[in-house]
Order: sequence, then C-alpha cells, then structure tokens
Amino acid sequence: MSAQENKTGLPLVHLGITRPEELSALFADLRGRFNADCACALDESSWKQFRDTWLGRKSGVLAQITDNWLKPATPELKRAVGQQLNELRAHVESQIESRRAAIETGTEETARDRVDLSLPGVIRPVGSRHLVRQVFQEIEDIFFSIGFSVVDGPEIETPYYNFEALNIPEFHPVRDDMDTFYLDLPKGAPTPLLLRTHTSPMQIRTMEKQKPPVRVIVPGKVYRRDNPDATHSFAFHQIEGLAVDTDITFCDFTGTIEYFVKQFFGPSVKTRFRPSYFPFTEPSVEFDVSCPFCAGTGTAASGGTCSKCKGAAWIELFGAGMVDPAVYGFVNYDPKKVSGFAFGIGIDRLAMLKYGIDDIQVFFQNDVRFLRQFP
Ligand code: DAH
Repeated sequence: MSAQENKTGLPLVHLGITRPEELSALFADLRGRFNADCACALDESSWKQFRDTWLGRKSGVLAQITDNWLKPATPELKRAVGQQLNELRAHVESQIESRRAAIETGTEETARDRVDLSLPGVIRPVGSRHLVRQVFQEIEDIFFSIGFSVVDGPEIETPYYNFEALNIPEFHPVRDDMDTFYLDLPKGAPTPLLLRTHTSPMQIRTMEKQKPPVRVIVPGKVYRRDNPDATHSFAFHQIEGLAVDTDITFCDFTGTIEYFVKQFFGPSVKTRFRPSYFPFTEPSVEFDVSCPFCAGTGTAASGGTCSKCKGAAWIELFGAGMVDPAVYGFVNYDPKKVSGFAFGIGIDRLAMLKYGIDDIQVFFQNDVRFLRQFP
C-alpha cells in the first residue's frame, strides 16, 4: 500500500481533518485495508512482507501515523489520534501474530492453497478398441503369419463389382438375399450405386490391379436389408480372403482354413466342410468347426445339451471355395494357368462365438458397460 493510498504520508491538516470526530472514518478505512492485506498473507514470505508493511520501523504504516499524524497533531487532536492509534496497533499486532501461528501450524486457510501430492491426479479415461476391431486384428495377425496382406475397399459399390463380376448376373436368384440399399442418385447418373453387401467385390478390384500371385484379406463393413434381431443387423463385418497363384490346390485351401480355425479357436478343434453354393466359387463349401464349448460332443459339462451347438457338436463358420474360372474372365486372368481359393468370414458371428455374446446388437449400441468388458 503506498503512502498516498493510505494517506498516512500526509499530516492531518493536509487531509482537512481538524476535529477529533473526523478521525474515526480515517482509522476505520485503515483497519479495513489491514484486514484485506491480512487475508492475503498465506505463506511465510507473504506474511513477512505484510508484517513489514504495517509494523516496519521506519516506513511501516503505524510508524508513518506516529510521524505524520500524531507528532505534528494540534493539541485538540493529539489525544484522540493517540487513542485511535493504540487501538489500531493492538489490532494489527494481534492479527499479525495469529496469522503467523496459523501459517506455522498449517491450519485451514493455508492448507487450502497447499499442493497435496498424495491426492490422486485427474483421471482421463482412455478409450479402447471395439471388440469387433480386436477380432479383426486377431484374424489379420493369423493371416499375416502365412503371407497374406490386408487391402481396403469402398463401402459404396457399383452393381458390376458387387454382383456381375462375381458371376452374379442381373436376374440371378442369389441377388434376392442381397437385395439391398441403393443410393438415391440424380437422373442420368452413369451407374447405380449401392452399399456393398459383402467384401467379395474386393476380389475383383484386387485382381484388376495386380497380377498373380495374390494373397490378400479384406476386412470391412457390409450392409444388407436384414431386420435387426439377435443374429442379424443391417450393418455387419466380414473378412474376405483370396489366394490365387499358378499351382494352388484344394489341399492348400483346406489346409489354410484349418490352420486359421485352429489358431483362432485353439489347437484341439477340428474342422470339416460341406458342399455349398456360391456363384463365384466352384466347388463351394461351408466350413464348420467342432464345438469349442463342449469339445465337439454336443453335451454340456452339466450333462445337458450344449447350448452353443444345440447338441449338433459342430458349429457352422463361413462360406468359401475354389475361385470359379468364370471370375478370372472378368479380370483378364487366364483360368488355364491360375487357380485359387476365396472365403468370406462373418466377423460378428465369430466374435460372438468366441466371446460368448448372444446378441449381435450389442456391437452397435456402444453401451460402455459392454465395451468395458473388452478393454
Ligand atoms: N460373399 C459371401 C457372402 O457374403 C461369403 C463368401 C462365400 C465369400 C464364399 C467368399 C466365398 O469369398 O468364397 O455371403
């Protein structure tokens, strides 16, 4: 506080004070300032500065009052100034002392401002990868280990890539299953567009771009006009696989799938395949795995029917097959020189099986209580 501010640098006459009654307001103002200063002295160094401001021998506020107000005061004022000064001094000294004691013992007010290093810090929640992402990664790692690489493709496709080039002509009945979401396009658009119904179009896009040998997997989202229930969703996930080379046999195919299934479910499972049909593979198969929950017996540990395979001992996994030679015709590969296999794995289904999830909808609801179970 400057002398100017607290008026203690000037004799009382200069302040226009001539009568004892006029002193009260002056001292009350000083006391108010002292109290405000006192509240700011929260540690030893600020307390010392505060003490010197008020009690400093030469230029402390009280010394100035003595020098500038008391000593030159007129006889009428002297008594009153002396009395008020004594009262103020008593207040100042006792408050300065109790502030010192408070700082020393670290009571309330000062504790509030101290840093307590033992308090826990601010915890910022870190997100984790969604279970579907984790399963993608698991499967990708398995295929990386045997020489496959990952490619990515568009979720909006043309009917050519989604159907025709996969040997599914316009009025082929399998299109019924994939009757899906078309985009509203302006009149005169060169081609209709739809949300891809499977990751298989990437077989075509990959072979268009690269000559054999091809060994790729394609993780991604696909869309179908399915009504949501515990096992269906209009958006879900697949991993496509494609291997094409000059000498790939059906044995390479089943061996690769068996390797993958054992890596994913554990070495004790068995695989089998059954004949199936897809327009872009010939022959086509459906792969099954022996039920990992009842060790392929169909009977639960409790003695009842296994609830996972419903007593069948086998669980249907995914479709696959040897690439149909007709498909090579769409990508300028010579079907007499190359052969290969393809597969399309439903990721949601595999994740549900492996992690015991009975409703596909939980993958899309983003309920953190579910997500936290798979950190
Ligand atoms: N695209 C098929 C579907 O979504 C799955 C599929 C089956 C993919 C056999 C393949 C395959 O590559 O060979 O139903």
